[in-house]
Amino acid sequence: MEIRSPLWIFILSCLGTSWAIEPLSVAMTAGAASAIWGYFDGSLCRVMECCDQRSTPTDAKNISALENELSTYVYGQHLMQDIVIRALRGHMESPDPSKALVLSFHGSTGCGKSYVSEFIARSLFAYGMKSKFVKKFVAGIEFPDPTMAAVYKMKVQDKVRAVVKMCERALFIFEDVHLMPSGILDGILPFIDHHTEVDGLDFRKSIFILLSNLGGTAINRKTLELWSAGRQREDVIKLKDFESVIRQGAFNEAGGLYNSVAIKTSLIDHYIPFLPLEEKHVVKCIDNEFKKLGYPSAPEDAAKNILGDMTFMPPEVELYSTSGCKRIASKVSAYVHGKKFVVF
Ligand SMILES: *[C@@H]1O[C@H](CO)[C@@H](O)[C@H](O)[C@H]1NC(C)=O
Ligand SMILES: [Mg+2]
Repeated sequence: MEIRSPLWIFILSCLGTSWAIEPLSVAMTAGAASAIWGYFDGSLCRVMECCDQRSTPTDAKNISALENELSTYVYGQHLMQDIVIRALRGHMESPDPSKALVLSFHGSTGCGKSYVSEFIARSLFAYGMKSKFVKKFVAGIEFPDPTMAAVYKMKVQDKVRAVVKMCERALFIFEDVHLMPSGILDGILPFIDHHTEVDGLDFRKSIFILLSNLGGTAINRKTLELWSAGRQREDVIKLKDFESVIRQGAFNEAGGLYNSVAIKTSLIDHYIPFLPLEEKHVVKCIDNEFKKLGYPSAPEDAAKNILGDMTFMPPEVELYSTSGCKRIASKVSAYVHGKKFVVF
């Protein structure tokens, strides 16, 4: 409609004068113009982004493709994968979801929170993170001044409305929610609640992903505790082991979720833990980076070399990478280019 309406105004105003004289030919001209435009419009959507199945697929195949990608490229996060895929399937397959889907990702730096949100964007939108229907708010960049919270809140609301007006199947990613001044997030409350319509718009098909470090320390502690008790994350670690840990962490640490009505009223559908990464997971990240550069796998000394430069915690057992797989790509490219490692 967006593109079509000005054209109609143009056609009608040009033909307006002859309308009274020759209604039949005017109708035929308008009909032909409409058919031509319809064809043009349809082909346009084959090369440009439109709010349609090509650009914003809701096909089960696309979710299965995402599932494959997550298991191939994200390591040590089977819990996350399981919940994310089930949540997306449920939401996308419903033609009439009862509310917007809200996922809250929790975990320390480098465990893959933004990485996973980008995979989601790429599988649900042909234009991925560049899509007009995907908007990412990065707290430190977009909301730097805590005294401006009220202004930021309105900006977020305006943006969310504008995107949903273009396409109901929209994706909003809030990165580093722990750095967001309190109150901003409450601005999205009316959009994520069970309303059929807000300001004439329906937000129930949209997806909101919140990323934060909140609860990260508690998640790491709990993972270590389970590991000490002999429990393998791949087999027996369950979501229920983490739910209360995350909620407590999210409540007790200051930041965007702290004091948020969204948490109190449970409008967040899933709290998703990102577990700390062990050496074997980091090795996979290293391997993956080498593969991207065309190597069959990481050269033997490379992984050892890169791991040697990383810190593992806690000091007694040195089990988890303190920075997860963050900056592995740059470490690998530094290795490949024969430089000594850059000190970050
Ligand atoms: C969705 O799946 C179809 C069929 O497998 C594929 O052609 C298309 O590229 C996918 N779309 C996205 C955005 O991944
Ligand atoms: Mg991050």
